[in-house]
Amino acid sequence: MTAWNAFVSTNFAGDQACAECHEKEYQAHLRSGHSRTLTRMRETVLAERLAEMKSYQDPRREQTFEFEAIENQIFVRDPIHAPGVTVPVTWLLGSGTHAQTPIAVDESTQSGVELRWSFFPRSEAVGLTPDHQRYDDFEPGTIDCFGRPMDNADIRSCLGCHSTVSPPPSLPLRNDLFVGNVGCERCHGPRKKHVELAHQGRAGEIKPLLRYETAETYIETCAACHRDESSVDPNATANELVRFQPYGIQRSRCYLETPGHLTCSTCHDPHDTVSHDRATSIEQCQQCHGGGPSAECPQQPDGDCIDCHMPLVEWTTGIAFHDHWIRVQTAMVQE
Ligand code: HEC
Ligand code: HEC
Ligand code: HEC
Ligand code: HEC
Ligand code: HEC
Ligand code: HEC
Ligand code: HEC
Repeated sequence: MTAWNAFVSTNFAGDQACAECHEKEYQAHLRSGHSRTLTRMRETVLAERLAEMKSYQDPRREQTFEFEAIENQIFVRDPIHAPGVTVPVTWLLGSGTHAQTPIAVDESTQSGVELRWSFFPRSEAVGLTPDHQRYDDFEPGTIDCFGRPMDNADIRSCLGCHSTVSPPPSLPLRNDLFVGNVGCERCHGPRKKHVELAHQGRAGEIKPLLRYETAETYIETCAACHRDESSVDPNATANELVRFQPYGIQRSRCYLETPGHLTCSTCHDPHDTVSHDRATSIEQCQQCHGGGPSAECPQQPDGDCIDCHMPLVEWTTGIAFHDHWIRVQTAMVQE
């Protein structure tokens, strides 16, 4: 065990340890994608499925990938374009709400690859990884055969946003140094001490490491992964930006003109999976709009606010997000 592993086990208790006292949050978190953002490939249902499939034909390249499971570890090969190369698939990212994308991390070279195929639970099929149409051209005999090459920094940022704990850059990249999923302690800080004290009836003595008291600090915590203005590509198109909820909220007059009163919790339980109950969403808008200081809708005060002011926008084929920049869109006024 490394000093880093020791540090982690001394400070972090793990989600399971919270269940006995915070059953409600624990159960909600199990429903949320946060509890399944980063899984060892060998522990996934997809690994079994690939072993049964044996091969997969790329939809855009003249290329067939072959899968083999050896002691549950999934290996991928392309004997025609990359003879003699066998890539062990290390991690699976994404809960499956939209898509699950595998990556392979090679500790010996400190580099890796985002594989060209992903799993799409809605169609129950393996297909092209989102955005990989940009990598249709490839050089046989290189890692490009398998997908988008990743350097050390790419892998760390990828795993960093999908994990509870990730090792500092001073340590070499090793898969066992990461604690997967966006667990309780990613948002509440290491809590082992809290658990120990709570067992002695002294839970309140340990101060929370992360605070959600102001709307700014709240949204910044989420933006570390969900992204705001500081972390989006300035050349991104409007469609690319719809998946970055903090970016959208921070632009909305609902946020700007109600200082401190609007956070993600106004509309979501941060522990739970997103509710699709439209009546509840509309009520959340009407907390402010519908009498009181905020304006009522001159168009349809009893209509489905979300359809018009937070429409579902396709981000990539088959994956859509609700635009969190709540506004009167220009197209709407022209109609
Ligand atoms: C043995 C019971 C117990 C366990 C186990 C426990 N807690 Fe708590 N927790 C409490 C109690 C009691 C409070 C209320 C403390 C207070 O404010 O006086 C609390 C408060 C909290 C709060 C709100 C106040 C704050 O400090 O931020 C958070 C967040 C929290 N716990 C997170 C966790 C997490 C995460 C875990 C698992 C790693 C955990 N707790 C495990 C008993 C427990
Ligand atoms: C460490 C990175 C990280 C942080 C911090 C984070 N998230 Fe997430 N969040 C993710 C990832 C990754 C997913 C995608 C999960 C999946 O694959 O379904 C996600 C998904 C979600 C979902 C959808 C869950 C579902 O099942 O429908 C909500 C809602 C959400 N996050 C809200 C928040 C809020 C609110 C905060 C801040 C309090 C926050 N997140 C902080 C990484 C993060
Ligand atoms: C800046 C933080 C960040 C980085 C870096 C990042 N992700 Fe994510 N990822 C997220 C968040 C946040 C979500 C949740 C999106 C949502 O539902 O709003 C997500 C969702 C996903 C999903 C679920 C499907 C989807 O599109 O919602 C997959 C798969 C995924 N990421 C794979 C990856 C892979 C592979 C990498 C690295 C090559 C990566 N991510 C890098 C933050 C990040
Ligand atoms: C994505 C970030 C995130 C994750 C993951 C997360 N929480 Fe929270 N939690 C929050 C936020 C934000 C609040 C503040 C609630 C609010 O203002 O709506 C909170 C509040 C709490 C509270 C105080 C509730 C109250 O009513 O005062 C407890 C207890 C808690 N969380 C426990 C947990 C436990 C246990 C887990 C894991 C099973 C967990 N949280 C996972 C973001 C998170
Ligand atoms: C915390 C209070 C609050 C909540 C919740 C809220 N808003 Fe707002 N919203 C405001 C305020 C304040 C303004 C700016 C002044 C005004 O128009 O009343 C505003 C402005 C708007 C505007 C005009 C924006 C523009 O481009 O001029 C729209 C549209 C809007 N809100 C829709 C919504 C919808 C839809 C929801 C629910 C998804 C929602 N709001 C939730 C407070 C809120
Ligand atoms: C059919 C589409 C549609 C629905 C449904 C709808 N709106 Fe609107 N809303 C509009 C349009 C278009 C405008 C701009 C109208 C104008 O400027 O005359 C608007 C304007 C607004 C404004 C700005 C008013 C102002 O004077 O600045 C607010 C706030 C608003 N809507 C809130 C809501 C809320 C809350 C709901 C749900 C209860 C809702 N809207 C439902 C289309 C819609
Ligand atoms: C004013 C209300 C409101 C606020 C504030 C809000 N959301 Fe949402 N969010 C929604 C609605 C409505 C949906 C769509 C629910 C549905 O599917 O019917 C949604 C959906 C989502 C989804 C699922 C993916 C998608 O786009 O459909 C994620 C993830 C999410 N929100 C994260 C966040 C985060 C993170 C924040 C804070 C930065 C936030 N939301 C703030 C209303 C809100």
